[in-house]
Amino acid sequence: MTELHDLIRLLPKAELHLHIEGSLEPELMFLLSQRNGVQLKYDSVESIRAAYQFDNLQDFLDLYYAATSVLLKEQDFYDLTWAYLLKAKENNIVHAEIMFDPQAHTSRGVPFSSVIGGIYRALTDGYEKLGITFKLILSFLRHLSQEEGFMTLEEAIPYKGWITAVGLDSSERNFPPDLFTDLFEKAREMGFLTVAHAGEEGPPEYIWAALDLLKASRIDHGNSSTEDPDLVDVLGIYEIPLTSCPLSNLKLKVIQKMEDSPVKEMMDRGIKVTVNSDDPAYFGGYLNDNYIAVADALHLSQDEIIQLVKNSFDASFITDGEKRAFLKKVEEASGVV
Ligand code: ADE
Ligand code: ZN
Repeated sequence: MTELHDLIRLLPKAELHLHIEGSLEPELMFLLSQRNGVQLKYDSVESIRAAYQFDNLQDFLDLYYAATSVLLKEQDFYDLTWAYLLKAKENNIVHAEIMFDPQAHTSRGVPFSSVIGGIYRALTDGYEKLGITFKLILSFLRHLSQEEGFMTLEEAIPYKGWITAVGLDSSERNFPPDLFTDLFEKAREMGFLTVAHAGEEGPPEYIWAALDLLKASRIDHGNSSTEDPDLVDVLGIYEIPLTSCPLSNLKLKVIQKMEDSPVKEMMDRGIKVTVNSDDPAYFGGYLNDNYIAVADALHLSQDEIIQLVKNSFDASFITDGEKRAFLKKVEEASGVV
């Protein structure tokens, strides 16, 4: 078993589903609250950690948005992103496609330029100093209106060259993808790819809508897809990847135990599924912890782990040539164990 854990740690990997705000560790939250003079409800790092009590998506999101109050300056977004990149390096992540939620900040009066400026500066430093390549995904909050989404898209125009795709996240129930059809159409006209959280806690119909209406190239989570055999066929045939997040699913009670993770079933049924950490500061682990959790619970073989890692590059937004180069590195590293 430890040999498999070693393999997981040693393989170069891509992470495709990571909310940068969800990588805000209590230590940095506390430091930023003091640096910016922002009063938190908590008086220590320990009490922040102790407050991480939630067992559903909405209770988690309430904490997640409250925590963003410490992020005010461009440097704060830099520090947040740099901290994630150091963790990524430790986890042997060589390519990261990172989501950010500008509306969680602009709604508090933080300029869009500070948010994206700090994140992008850290990502370019991460490439130069740590060798980690990246893509950036602007996520719209689905509990806000499509109108507000359009305003955010407008603010993104000067930074178009920095952003690869738009996404859709936040509270899923009662906020179906249908509500954002026009916004995503506009984003596609502007040249952005699209992804969407769907089927995390919502029904398969939300995944169909993300594909048919939002033209998502990739579905974030997609747990409920396994309930619908036609959907499983479509995801397989059209090679639409799913970005699964095992520790997130467990913490938010989307699954009751790790053995219920759909990762192996999805693979066995021909879906290009990937493993990701979602909001690692909140869900108890970074990328390797997620791989190890599913590998142990689902008794994954060495070949299955290698397949998941290859999927992470295949499902990414890099070029075919870049994919081939990374897949070669995975092959080389696989031979070492
Ligand atoms: N925003 C951050 N994490 C999320 C998740 N797991 N689902 C929906 N929105 C999110
Ligand atoms: Zn997510």
